[in-house]
Amino acid sequence: MENRKSILKCDNISISFGGLKAVNGFNLDVKEGDLIGLIGPNGAGKTTVFNMLSGVYSPTEGSIFLDGESVGGLGVYKVSQKGVSRTFQNIRLFDYLSVIDNVKLAMNQDMRYNVISGMLRLKSYWQEEREATKRALEILKILDLQSYANDSAGNLPYGAQRKLEIARAIATNPKLLLLDEPAAGMNAIETEALMDTIRMIRDKYKLAIVLIEHDMKLVLGICERLLVLNHGIVIAEGNPREVVKKEEVVSAYLGSGYGGDNA
Ligand SMILES: Nc1ncnc2c1ncn2[C@@H]1O[C@H](COP(=O)(O)OP(=O)(O)O)[C@@H](O)[C@H]1O
Ligand SMILES: [Mg+2]
Repeated sequence: MENRKSILKCDNISISFGGLKAVNGFNLDVKEGDLIGLIGPNGAGKTTVFNMLSGVYSPTEGSIFLDGESVGGLGVYKVSQKGVSRTFQNIRLFDYLSVIDNVKLAMNQDMRYNVISGMLRLKSYWQEEREATKRALEILKILDLQSYANDSAGNLPYGAQRKLEIARAIATNPKLLLLDEPAAGMNAIETEALMDTIRMIRDKYKLAIVLIEHDMKLVLGICERLLVLNHGIVIAEGNPREVVKKEEVVSAYLGSGYGGDNA
């Protein structure tokens, strides 16, 4: 029954910074529609995995394949064009621009009009500009941000800013969305709503999502597969509810007293 398309494959990737092996022999196979969680203590190498998947760093060893094609050393721009999009642990928005302009700016890279036609205000410019506005509004609506469209991004409540980051990431039409601690700093109600949003995005766009998160309620609530990283090494992987019960996971990350069932 497993006929979903493979989107990304990591084959034994490692990276060292100076003497430190930040990620060591990481393997991952992401298929269309997957919702995968990556957890582990601070400094485990989670963000470094995202930096390799999104082209920020090239692995020192191993290979990454997107749609079967090796993407090692392609760099962020090309990897993003090939369909990998991400959000960051720390919010990165253009605070003084409007919410809708933040989304349109993220879309810009796959718009056909260029700076010249923009300056000359050609018909094609206005047409594409209208289309961009329409699409940006659609994306904002999906994330329930449409009422903020003309507000400055920096004035939004914290939870809405995090959602705007996701809106920007979706604007590039990714096949794979990487979310780095999307619920960080959110309250319980915002986190609950975010879970629904993430699931809905996956279902609507049929894209694959890998997320890093410390909130175990979110992780267990939506992830269908879980990887646990510790000191750069995957120490457990599989069904989330089974993974969180493993002794090595409890002792490396979750702490004793963690049952997993009431999380
Ligand atoms: N650019 C870098 N230069 C040097 N060390 C780095 C760099 N990026 C990450 N590291 C180190 O790699 C390790 C893993 O970091 P990171 O991936 O950010 O962990 P996590 O996201 O799991 O908290 C840490 O020890 C961190 O200091
Ligand atoms: Mg991190």
